Amino acid sequence: MNKYLFPDQFLWGAATASYQIEGSPDADGKGESIWDRFSHTPGNVWNGETGDVACDHYRRYEEDVNLMSQIGLNAYRFSISWPRIFPAGGGKANVKGLDFYRRLIEKLQQHKIRPAVTLYHWDLPQALQDRGGWTNRDTAKYFSEYAAYVYEKLDLPVSMWITLNEPWVIAILGHAFGIHAPGVSDFKSAFQVSHNLLLGHGLAVKAFREAKRTGEPIGITLNLAPVEPLTEKQDDLEAASRSDGFMNRWFLDPIFRGSYPADMVEVFSRNFELPKTEKDDDQVIAEPIDFLGINNYTRVIVEASGDKNAFMGTPVNPQEAEYTEMGWEVYPQGLYDLLTRVHRDYGPLPLYVTENGAAFPDELDENGQVNDPRRINYLEKYIHQCWKAVQDGVPLKGYFAWTLMDNFEWAFGYSKRFGLVYIDFEEQRRYLKNSAYWYSKVIGRNGLESDSL
Ligand code: FCB
Repeated sequence: MNKYLFPDQFLWGAATASYQIEGSPDADGKGESIWDRFSHTPGNVWNGETGDVACDHYRRYEEDVNLMSQIGLNAYRFSISWPRIFPAGGGKANVKGLDFYRRLIEKLQQHKIRPAVTLYHWDLPQALQDRGGWTNRDTAKYFSEYAAYVYEKLDLPVSMWITLNEPWVIAILGHAFGIHAPGVSDFKSAFQVSHNLLLGHGLAVKAFREAKRTGEPIGITLNLAPVEPLTEKQDDLEAASRSDGFMNRWFLDPIFRGSYPADMVEVFSRNFELPKTEKDDDQVIAEPIDFLGINNYTRVIVEASGDKNAFMGTPVNPQEAEYTEMGWEVYPQGLYDLLTRVHRDYGPLPLYVTENGAAFPDELDENGQVNDPRRINYLEKYIHQCWKAVQDGVPLKGYFAWTLMDNFEWAFGYSKRFGLVYIDFEEQRRYLKNSAYWYSKVIGRNGLESDSL
């Protein structure tokens, strides 16, 4: 068998997000979030489902950490629900809300699982949405105040801090396409949101440097995708470059180079008024970070749409490829392409895959087993590409599978199962899928063993 081993100290984790797993929307003084409001508004989520119960993780977190330990994870990425800590967005903090995360981290510590904390995975306090949410520049300031409070009061070691999860998704799916909370469909405001999010990120990093959490790294998680032109024709090449600008460079450039990419500023300004910015914003956004988290699931192939002003080409799905339940192409090499490209263009800096995984139509059999060979195949192929990237000098320090357990997949409700652990939502029972047992072996030997890669 060939072995594909990773460097010592490599983090093997799984990731989750507060709204997708916690439930208990009013417990211990929690305030309403935009996802509570959005999911309770008819027509927004598949089958009218909400995160009211989800995996009931708020009450079952000990059982869930035991599962992580059974799998052998050495890291766990979760997010803090801002409205648990500041029910009204700002003002008076709710001590009981933070206590939950303290209990969770203590339990992780008992099992030697390192906590990777995301401060914002989409559940904005509704009270702030009522004042414009992320379209309002003040939200960036409130975000950094919430972050500063957590840095100060969460008096337990944290292995990695992540300011935001996927600002592109928040801005575009939430504010341009309206399919995520807060359900707004207005491109102009989406770009204001993307700017205010980056500003919030920069302010939260600055606040972190002032807090005394020495030795703990901070970064951000971006959803990035390798973009390829359908053909080498000039029009397709240009469409691919603009799509890459829209999906990737619009976030990478300001963070790592201190300014928005000039070609995209030009393209966007042909479509609408650009976001309002202030003098020092560029500098705040480019506040140096310690690592970049990358979420990647698939690649994007585009062809020219015929409209030179379009910032996205027309996506094309290759016919012979395999697709997941999300309709995303399984394309492992894309992760290698992405890691090496980010390293080349924006490095040197430690990288983490903070999410990668797949939804398949899993079924629990009568013996309580879930046979999910397609997920195992997906994870193996993508992890192999991570290994290749490491061989080629990419400082990849960890890999987090999305996700620990089946959960509330946003607008898709409970219809998409991404977990290593199968959840019977009615009974709230957990079952390790075969992929969890497989992952456990990967972690145990710190890499892959295979003859077929
Ligand atoms: C990412 C999200 C995560 C999950 C996966 C499938 O965009 O960060 O919460 O929904 O996709």
